[in-house]
Amino acid sequence: MADFLDPWVDDRPADGVFRVHSRIYTDPGLFEREQRCVFGRTWVFLGLESQLPGPRRWLSTRIGSVRVLVTRDGEGRLHAHLNACRHKGAMLARRETGEARQLVCPYHGWVYDLAGKCTSVKDERTGNYAAGFGDDHDLVALPRFATYKGLMFGSLSAEVPPLETVLGDIRPLLDLALEQGPDGMEFVPGRIVFRYRANWKLQLENGTDFYHLTSTHAAFMDVMNQRRQGAGNQEARQFDWHKRLQQRAGTFHFEHGHAAVWMDQAEAEKRPIYPAIDEIRRRVGDVRADWMLKVRGISLFPNLQIADGASLTLRTFHPLAVDLTEVRYYCLAPVGEAEALRAWRLRQFEDFFNVSGLATPDDVVIYEDCQQGFATSPGWLQGTARGHGLLREGGNEAAEELGVRPLATVIGDFRVQNETTLHPAYREWRRLMGAAEEREADHA
Ligand code: FES
Ligand SMILES: [Fe+2]
Repeated sequence: MADFLDPWVDDRPADGVFRVHSRIYTDPGLFEREQRCVFGRTWVFLGLESQLPGPRRWLSTRIGSVRVLVTRDGEGRLHAHLNACRHKGAMLARRETGEARQLVCPYHGWVYDLAGKCTSVKDERTGNYAAGFGDDHDLVALPRFATYKGLMFGSLSAEVPPLETVLGDIRPLLDLALEQGPDGMEFVPGRIVFRYRANWKLQLENGTDFYHLTSTHAAFMDVMNQRRQGAGNQEARQFDWHKRLQQRAGTFHFEHGHAAVWMDQAEAEKRPIYPAIDEIRRRVGDVRADWMLKVRGISLFPNLQIADGASLTLRTFHPLAVDLTEVRYYCLAPVGEAEALRAWRLRQFEDFFNVSGLATPDDVVIYEDCQQGFATSPGWLQGTARGHGLLREGGNEAAEELGVRPLATVIGDFRVQNETTLHPAYREWRRLMGAAEEREADHA
């Protein structure tokens, strides 16, 4: 097992060095510590409020390996509990979502209402329970639960700063995704879910990695080329990536491990929100409407990403083992979107993100290859260095225009395709993994 005191993140700003060690993807001891210190000690995305569209709905999800149940009670109030029966821990809600007046444990039949209250211990009167059994059999509430504009977050620790503080200055970028519709946003029914045999941080990294597009997704680019010449499915109105590669692009680094990438708009008329852009301009103003048309990617540490490029996608990923990760992709869309625009959006989403699509399978194969590589040739990796020479402390003209105050920025030609987006995430990872109280616990 790795010694956590080892500097798995080599961060020396004065020397222009930032790199991570391959061991962070392979060591079971570090993985176990991540569950406790990273996923156990920060806010983690749980789902969209609109996934629970009325009273007595429930949604099962995870924080790391811990199963979580989000519910709306009979009055429509939201609650978040551990998805584990108080009797012997059996999972209460086994499917992803549902609607029920009550939840009955499949093991011994204890019953809970949708506020998490235990309403029946099966055959309690004949059970001869002693006084020590007590009267608290309710589900265990998450220590912290909060929402931001329809996004729901929970924390397994009560010792976290308020959600708004942790989201901090990435909020205006989240708003660009969450305010595209006048009546809010929803997931298009259905989702992509799959598991890959590699570490969760490969997905964390790839979510803001523009560098791999022209190589990993060469087949996708090829198909797009053929479509431009009139062949194949024209309905998706896919983008001309060669036009995009000429654009100005940049990166924002934020506190608490978050980062965002952006690229100036090209072919705005191919965005499904374009026909509604006048309404959007009236509602959010010209600057923010223009930013909604740019290509953007947000990485919210530790495991939420929103990408608005090939389609508007929300992605979350759950670490199940050091080399096993579950990923979920959702297509995010304005509530009440016109049917033709929704179809257009879906064609773009399917093309790129579906498990049967032209891009996602290539990413997944590569993650598994990397995991093999880490095991056979461990050492310091060189995947966080690109664009480092352009990194500047504080904001820049793009940040000013949007009204955000990043810790650091990169701006340049899109072809820089910088990798510095990973610096905030790995600094936050290192900070949480090395927390003082954990060191004391380890040495106790
Ligand atoms: S584990 Fe739920 S009733 Fe026994
Ligand atoms: Fe990719």
